[in-house]
Amino acid sequence: MSRQKILVFDSGLGGLTVYRAVRALRPDADYLYLGDDALFPYGRLAPEVLIARVNAVIGAAMAQFPAGCIVIACNTASTLVLPELRARFSIPIVGTVPAVKPAAAMTASGVVSVLATPGTVSRDYTQDLIREFAGGVRVTLVGSKALAGLAERALRGEAVDDAAIGAEIAPCFVEDGDRRTDVVVLACTHYPLLLDRLNALAPWPVKWVDPAPAIARRVVQVLGEIRSEGEGSARATFTAGTPQEPNLVRALAADGLSEAGVRLPPAG
Ligand code: DGL
Repeated sequence: MSRQKILVFDSGLGGLTVYRAVRALRPDADYLYLGDDALFPYGRLAPEVLIARVNAVIGAAMAQFPAGCIVIACNTASTLVLPELRARFSIPIVGTVPAVKPAAAMTASGVVSVLATPGTVSRDYTQDLIREFAGGVRVTLVGSKALAGLAERALRGEAVDDAAIGAEIAPCFVEDGDRRTDVVVLACTHYPLLLDRLNALAPWPVKWVDPAPAIARRVVQVLGEIRSEGEGSARATFTAGTPQEPNLVRALAADGLSEAGVRLPPAG
């Protein structure tokens, strides 16, 4: 019985938050982490561009790493491309979509914010989640143009100003009479990379919902009971080429990820 192969995909480094949670539960699987950083950030791309691009990149990766499960660790892509991918690959495809339902169950004040990329905020998928699962809750959608990029810079060891992060999260903090926001959904997988900074910069304490543990539980469920002995391999590949910055190389190594040498389509 060969090891399970899991492909974890994001536009850049944000999917690492999901990869970590999945690998913690299934260390026996072989992993390929795929970041389409040549087109980062996805949040600004038109839907048709994004659908074509994700299909091309995942197709190329699957030809070289025939995974038994694909994790789309990106809300901006998942809210758009899951139907196409599921029609194309007959394996479980686990997406990441805004955790509106858990947030609605968690809020005591009834005031919730969803912090995401401009793409995710504009999707019908997101609107439908709110209509279906957040009846009676005041939901504020906050589309951040810069926060995913700031998270990448922080992971690469660059200095990121408190003011820059503070400005991106400020619209999440809503006061409505004597009620105020008590839950913020992190609906972009990059944002949990900044969790300590988000806690420190919040105007008042809130619960931040990181979907990674729930996604990891879902992956465990779809993979089933059979496990392999020992630890599997973990490799990463990026469409912009092999990362050279020492801080990033160190961060990937700390996540157990080494270079995969997978050939992927360039941008455009
Ligand atoms: N990590 C991605 C998400 O979950 C997107 C960040 C971006 O590329 O704009 O939405």
